[in-house]
Amino acid sequence: MQNLAPLKLGVLGSGKGSNFVAIAQAIQAGKINAQVQIVLSDVEDAGILEHARALGLRAEFIAPGRFRTKLEPQAEERVVELLREAGVELVVLAGYMRMIKAPLLEAFPSRIINIHPSLLPRFPGLESWKQALEAGACTTGCTVHYVDGGMDTGPVIAQSEVPVLPGDTAATLHARIQVAEHALFPEVIAKLAAPRRG
Ligand code: GAR
Repeated sequence: MQNLAPLKLGVLGSGKGSNFVAIAQAIQAGKINAQVQIVLSDVEDAGILEHARALGLRAEFIAPGRFRTKLEPQAEERVVELLREAGVELVVLAGYMRMIKAPLLEAFPSRIINIHPSLLPRFPGLESWKQALEAGACTTGCTVHYVDGGMDTGPVIAQSEVPVLPGDTAATLHARIQVAEHALFPEVIAKLAAPRRG
């Protein structure tokens, strides 16, 4: 039997939310059999929350606590609670800038995916486009991968290559990578959400 029910997504992000918008538009266009149940951010004024609210979606700020690179354990427990209450089946990290720890990893095993702005395993961590420029790379790109306890180390699902062009600045290269991200991330989610045998 096939499961035609839309895959229920929970989206986490810390930034302007352009990847979230690309996913939401692909859902609206009928290209992904999914629905966004909830959007959460560790940044109160993040664009991703504004975009989600503009679409009438539930969108909440989670106060991150005292750490810079991860959520306070209680805050991450709250994230798990909200995702569960919303019936989320797949957690999508769309520009979420903190490490994922045990509460969330254990609640959604192999059901958390992330987009990263490089061809992993090259240039993990922050501002990967700057790392690519500084390394003199001729190509870079973006990667969608399953999330594990490491930094950008989980199994790769798909990658898209992007050239580094003469005269590129950090801004022009990141913008070119983002165009690739906005195509790749919805494609991957569409495949994961495609009618599954139930
Ligand atoms: C994206 O380029 C994404 O790959 C990157 O943050 C940007 C978010 O943009 N994520 C990471 O670097 C995670 N390590 P957006 O808020 O416009 O989607």
